Amino acid sequence: MLNPHPAWLRRFSQNRRRIVVLAVVSVVVGGAFGALYAPSWLTGSANPDDLKRVALGQSIYQNNCASCHGTKLEGQANWRSRNDDGKLPAPPHDESGHTWHHSDQQLFRIVKHGLTPPLAPANYKSDMPSFEEVLSDEEIWAVLIFIKSTWSPKIRDRQDRINKAYD
Ligand code: HEC
Repeated sequence: MLNPHPAWLRRFSQNRRRIVVLAVVSVVVGGAFGALYAPSWLTGSANPDDLKRVALGQSIYQNNCASCHGTKLEGQANWRSRNDDGKLPAPPHDESGHTWHHSDQQLFRIVKHGLTPPLAPANYKSDMPSFEEVLSDEEIWAVLIFIKSTWSPKIRDRQDRINKAYD
């Protein structure tokens, strides 16, 4: 006759609690580790406390964005008024602009694809380039991390709320 309680099953039930506890502990520890150290291109958000990526983002910003958005993120003069060609000048990325009015995901989209639908009307004319062919996803996240690192805690907090509403 088949043994209804094979030894491995008995051992499993005896150890079950230990296995469950171990599983819970690994999920919690793994999650905490992931939240702290997972690269932004995996999590889809920009953590401005990630100092290594702030430094990387700063050099990418100076090489790719500063010519229009300013070395101090101050944007171009009269950025609220359209140029003669009907296009808008580059806005600041510091707190005086409206970059922080956008969620991380929207900012990522703008940098990767430029101001294209669904974030802008079709045929919208803009000098903001698409960086899809220039920067990797990880580099785009690094630039956003750098930009966010320059904001005050109050503005970061407000943009975090926009992130949550958007998710
Ligand atoms: C050739 C000039 C130019 C370069 C280089 C450039 N931008 Fe822009 N960017 C613009 C202009 C102009 C706008 C505003 C376009 C509009 O609203 O029509 C803009 C808009 C943006 C916006 C939207 C801001 C908002 O408040 O809506 C983001 C984000 C942005 N740029 C990020 C970047 C980043 C990051 C880089 C570098 C990787 C970069 N840009 C490089 C010209 C540029």
